[in-house]
Amino acid sequence: MDGTRLQGRVAAITGGGRGLGRATALRFAREGAAVMVVDADAANAEAVAAEITATGSRASACRCDVTRRAEVEAMVAATVTAFGRLDILVTYAGVALFKPFLEVDDAEWDRQMAVNVTGTFLCAQVAGRLMVQQRHGRIITVSSVMGQRSGDRRSSYGMTKGAVIALTKHMAAELGPFGVTVNSIAPGPVQTELWLRANPNAAKTRDTYLQNIPMGRLGAPEDMANAAFLLASDDAAYITGHVLNVDGGFIATGVRDGVY
Ligand SMILES: NC(=O)c1ccc[n+]([C@@H]2O[C@H](COP(=O)([O-])OP(=O)(O)OC[C@H]3O[C@@H](n4cnc5c(N)ncnc54)[C@H](O)[C@@H]3O)[C@@H](O)[C@H]2O)c1
Repeated sequence: MDGTRLQGRVAAITGGGRGLGRATALRFAREGAAVMVVDADAANAEAVAAEITATGSRASACRCDVTRRAEVEAMVAATVTAFGRLDILVTYAGVALFKPFLEVDDAEWDRQMAVNVTGTFLCAQVAGRLMVQQRHGRIITVSSVMGQRSGDRRSSYGMTKGAVIALTKHMAAELGPFGVTVNSIAPGPVQTELWLRANPNAAKTRDTYLQNIPMGRLGAPEDMANAAFLLASDDAAYITGHVLNVDGGFIATGVRDGVY
């Protein structure tokens, strides 16, 4: 364990079986939180939970499809059974199905809506009801820079992330009076499985991004974990309804002609 800043806290992390969710689960555990690793892929969730318990920290795994209310309710109930409460929810579970706008089909549209938007809604609502009773909670949604800017082939995916940003602000307003903060992290590009599948010409996409990222590199899973930790920590007690871009400056950037 690195620190104790989440000591006594219980976190559920959807999409925790790999990628950004896995990095965040490991980080939260190192800060003392008990972590429920939630994923549709049971084997990956169990592997991450085992990785955490091997270090002496507390973790458990839960297979859950976030698009199904009954499974989300069972996941939150399992978290309370295992650890007694739920303080922090981070909703990484997501899919990215990139296609040119004129070629997006109904199935791709619906699937991204179901996982990215409805999944976020269900997890946040079910966890939020519990947090309101506790008079304490942190909900951290996961949007994207693509919910704020356009990108080739990213219209349907970006639409879902824009919806997550709007939902985050509405939830922040309604849950704030009960001691529950709601914020979103908006990652820039990180070379996870999701990203590599969505960008078949990865080298070209990467080079194009690098021209527009002042920090000169793509993100790392740990960059997102650090941001989620910041929003989960007590230092963020008065931050709510905020979208935290974790993007090396991508959103801030316009013309970059190198003339200083
Ligand atoms: N990687 C990036 O560049 C990037 C950029 C911006 C935003 N994001 C967002 O970050 C989140 C995590 O992305 P990642 O790159 O780690 O992806 P990833 O594909 O590596 O991990 C996503 C995880 O979500 C799980 N999942 C998918 N559908 C699910 C469902 N219905 N129920 C439960 N679990 C489900 C998958 O099994 C997987 O373990 C996503 O919401 C993604 O949109 C990623």
